[in-house]
Parts: sequence; structure tokens; C-alpha cells
Amino acid sequence: MHILVTGGAGYIGSHTSVVLLEAGHEVIIVDNLSNSKIETIDRIKQITKKELIFYQEDVTDEAAVDAIFSNHSFDGVIHFAGFKAVGESVEFPLKYYYNNTVSTMVLAKYCLKYGVKQFVFSSSATVYGENDVPFVETMELLPTTNPYGETKVISERILTDVAKANRDFAVSLLRYFNPVGAHESGLIGEDPRGIPNNLMPYITKVAKGKLEKLRIFGNDYPTPDGTGVRDYIHVMDLAEGHVAALEKLTPGVHVYNLGTGRGISVLELVKTFEEVNGVKVPYEIVGRRPGDIAESYADVSKAKAELGWTAKRGIREMCRDAWRYECGV
Ligand code: NAD
Ligand code: WQD
Repeated sequence: MHILVTGGAGYIGSHTSVVLLEAGHEVIIVDNLSNSKIETIDRIKQITKKELIFYQEDVTDEAAVDAIFSNHSFDGVIHFAGFKAVGESVEFPLKYYYNNTVSTMVLAKYCLKYGVKQFVFSSSATVYGENDVPFVETMELLPTTNPYGETKVISERILTDVAKANRDFAVSLLRYFNPVGAHESGLIGEDPRGIPNNLMPYITKVAKGKLEKLRIFGNDYPTPDGTGVRDYIHVMDLAEGHVAALEKLTPGVHVYNLGTGRGISVLELVKTFEEVNGVKVPYEIVGRRPGDIAESYADVSKAKAELGWTAKRGIREMCRDAWRYECGV
């Protein structure tokens, strides 16, 4: 298949492009490099020893998107492009609402115009809000605590309505839990600009001595050790989940949780990271971070039953590969 990968120079998009190329698909990436580097495109080629086409364009730019669609005959689109920093979305809501929802609408519009019928969307477990764990796809979505989360809810609704109105349009809404780790080559991975917001990149930077210590946001949650519990998923498992979703896509809207189904606490992750990599991660316990929930983990039975996909890599591999990437950067 010929697949348009938006945001393919980014963290999850680059790993998914590797898996797509290795599965024999043709990959065309469009990315404006607002949160990624051109080197990643070369690294994808280096890992796979395959060619791909890259456009440095903004997917909210209709003329640019129209031109890309007219140059190719796509079988499907995987839409990763978007902004993802939760705190920044509170400070600059319009920037987030605009980029994340307009990009979705523009891509859906040109899919319809050019007869592209398969659309895979990067959603997030954040859409479950404060539902009880484990999160199941059939749950009613509850308010998220930030504009970023709302952009995912809105994009899901837009794509659902487009599929309702166009009966041969096939949409897969993939709700990612907490993606971590890197390709085992250490050539691509997560390299956030500035001080990381997310736990794993923060841990790797502390272990490397680039940051002094980790601040653990709260140890008074109703969890086994009091720290927040999340469903961390290896980014390569997540990437494989996209290919499974794409290859099984049929008309209509399909929602899948992509996680491991297992909750890990902040302290458990820190201890595992130290043990697997033989490094220290100094930390202090501080107050809770506003907007955080106590626990988030997936019910993964639907993806297993319908896509034949389950996460294969465990928390030790996630820690090993995240560290390998940090050491190579
Ligand atoms: P990322 O920032 O590494 O990748 C996103 C890519 O999109 C970047 O390369 C950026 O340059 C590009 N981009 C942004 N806006 C664009 C635009 N208008 N036009 C073209 N390119 C644009 O982020 P990621 O972690 O790889 O996330 C990919 C997707 O998955 C995002 O939609 C994100 O919201 C979603 N998601 C991420 C996580 C996570 O924890 N990383 C969890 C759930 C969902
Ligand atoms: C994980 C745990 C923190 C940093 C976010 C988004 C979500 C999704 C994934 C995109 C929590 C704790 C963290 C630190 C800490 N992204 N923590 N010290 O908040 O589960 O999810 O990223 O869709 O939408 O909200 O991930 O990695 O920030 O936090 O103690 O310096 O680590 O409190 O319990 P989160 P995270």
C-alpha cells in the first residue's frame, strides 16, 4: 500500500514508518519539522535500507496538501501530525485547537476529494478522563483537563461524522497509552526540545546527568505505592499496532486502545530503569501535578481479538531502549 504518514519525522511517526517500510509498504511522509529534525528521515532510511518520499509541508495548508494528494495515489493516511504538550496547550489553547483539529479536517477533506478511503488517527487515552480503570473503548468520554485532550476528542468526533456521511470511509481511532522507548538500533527515539514534560525522557536525562533529579509528582495517590500508575507501551509495539490496524481496516469507525493492559507506578519505573541500566536516578517526592489522574491503563482485549495485535515488549525493554537512545544522542 502507498501510505501518507503525517508527522512521520516525529517520535511515533518515525517508528511507524520503519515498521511500514519493513512490511513492504511505500511511505510518503509530510512533516513541517516544527517538533522534529530532518536527520530522522535519513535514520529511517538507514534502518530500513529503503527509500521514502518526504515533503516538508504543513498539513493545515490546504494548497500544500492538495498538491501532495494530486502527486500520489494513496491507499491510506496515518495522521500523527499535531502538537502534544499538555501544559503548553493550557497556555496557548488556540495554537492547539487550530493545529490539531484543522489538520484533521484538511486531511479528511482531501481524502474524500481524491478517493482515499483509509484513515488512521493518533488519539490518546487522555480522552477517557477520570473513568475507572481499566479503560474500555465503549466508555463514555469524560472531560479532559486540558485543550490538548479536547483536540483529540474533537478530532475523533469529526472523523466519526465524516465516516457516517461517507459509508465507504474507514477510520481507525487509536487511543495510545504512554509510549516510551526507542527503536532497538538506538538511531531514532524521543528527543524532546528543552526540559521534558513526560516521565521517561525526564528519567533518561537525569540518569545522564543532564538534569539534576527527577521530581515525582505525588506519593499520596490511592495506588499500591502512592505514585501515579500508567500503562507504558514500547513505541515499537505501538508502531506495529498501526500496521495491524491499517491492514485490517474496513469501512466505518473502529476504536482501539493501544497499551499493554498493565499499570506501572512511577517508582516501579524508576527502580526498573536503575536496575536494567545500572545507573542511578536521583529523585525527590513533590506535590501532585495539576490535571494528573491516579491511574490509567487499558483493557486491550479488543485490539487482540480484532487486530490480532498485542504488545510484546515489557518494561525492561522499554527502559533499555530508552537509555540506549539517550546514550547515542
Ligand atoms: P511528535 O511531536 O514527536 O510528532 C509529531 C510530528 O508532527 C512532529 O514531527 C511535528 O513536526 C509534526 N507536526 C506538527 N504539526 C504539524 C503540521 N501542522 N503539519 C505537519 N507536521 C506537523 O509527537 P509524537 O509523540 O510522535 O505524537 C504523534 C501523535 O500521537 C500526536 O498526534 C500526538 O498527539 C499523539 N499521541 C502522542 C502520545 C505521546 O505520549 N507521545 C500519546 C498519545 C497520542
Ligand atoms: C506519567 C506519570 C506523572 C513527569 C501524558 C499526556 C497524555 C499522553 C501521554 C499524549 C504521571 C509522573 C511525570 C515527571 C513525574 N500524551 N511524572 N515526574 O501525564 O500520563 O500522559 O503523556 O497524548 O495525554 O497527558 O504522562 O509521562 O507526563 O506522566 O512524577 O517529571 O509520571 O505524574 O503519574 P501522562 P507523563
